[in-house]
Amino acid sequence: MTERAAGAPDSTAMRVALWRAMHVRVDPPPHVLADEVGLRLAGPDDDWHSRPDMDPQATSGFRAAVVARARCVEDLVVEQARHGVAQYVVLGSGLDTFAQHRPEVAARLRIFEIDRPGHQSWKRQRLIELGYGVPDGLRLVPVDFEAGDSWLEPLTDAGFDPGRPAVFASSGVSMYLTKETTAATLRRIAGLAAGSTLAMTFLLPAERVEDADRPGLRDSEEGARSSGTPFISFYTPEEMLALAREAGFQDARHVPGSALADRYFAARADGLRPSSGEDLLLATT
Ligand SMILES: C[S@@+](CC[C@H](N)C(=O)[O-])C[C@H]1O[C@@H](n2cnc3c(N)ncnc32)[C@H](O)[C@@H]1O
Repeated sequence: MTERAAGAPDSTAMRVALWRAMHVRVDPPPHVLADEVGLRLAGPDDDWHSRPDMDPQATSGFRAAVVARARCVEDLVVEQARHGVAQYVVLGSGLDTFAQHRPEVAARLRIFEIDRPGHQSWKRQRLIELGYGVPDGLRLVPVDFEAGDSWLEPLTDAGFDPGRPAVFASSGVSMYLTKETTAATLRRIAGLAAGSTLAMTFLLPAERVEDADRPGLRDSEEGARSSGTPFISFYTPEEMLALAREAGFQDARHVPGSALADRYFAARADGLRPSSGEDLLLATT
């Protein structure tokens, strides 16, 4: 394992990066998303694929759900970039590697990745060590969402123009944050330039998860708690839509995980399909 800078990355961010790589390695093509850069950044021990949470069969639904949400966000960013939106903000970016694995789109964007300060210094060091570097178009913004301060000021200090539209993505993050923090984030984005879009994933309460997926959800909840990153917030789609509308978004839509499953996995012969439990809010200013 590579020696790490102080503030090693969040284990949840590592896990989803490894799942994205597992998809390329264990699932037959076509790949919903092809991202092995996150694995390089993570630099796990050689036997990483033998970890119980990487079991190809037992965790296939989570792996598929993670690549589905990442692909959906990427499709949105590509579409918005085509319409001239030139700012992309990743909230709780973890080991997001859009800037590295989609360089042709990234070249037309200024990308802002927001995550905890320790995580950001670790990631900056890894990007440099691996030769990717941190180009001018990629800004790593250190913020703890729970620290009480607005992330808009550090974002603006990093070069974000609040007067121009942007795409915001928050995937796999809202479950770790209080509802007050997420509501504040929604209000902040809703008040930004017209033509901005937010894609935010959220975990459903257990009773809204398909029966077959409940044991998996329970296991991942236990795993999250024991690794010190408990899931603290679950939302019904109605609650999330209400929060977005109260925040002031012009339009707010609920995209069920099953819609992403149909969009990206319907034609597969291998039966790979995302587990239920995480849905998406798509909101525009
Ligand atoms: C499961 S990872 C998701 C990473 C990435 N969005 C993805 O989908 O691959 C959750 C990320 O949220 C970040 N996060 C959690 N709580 C945070 C907080 N209070 N402030 C800033 N970042 C936070 C973690 O550091 C981690 O990188």
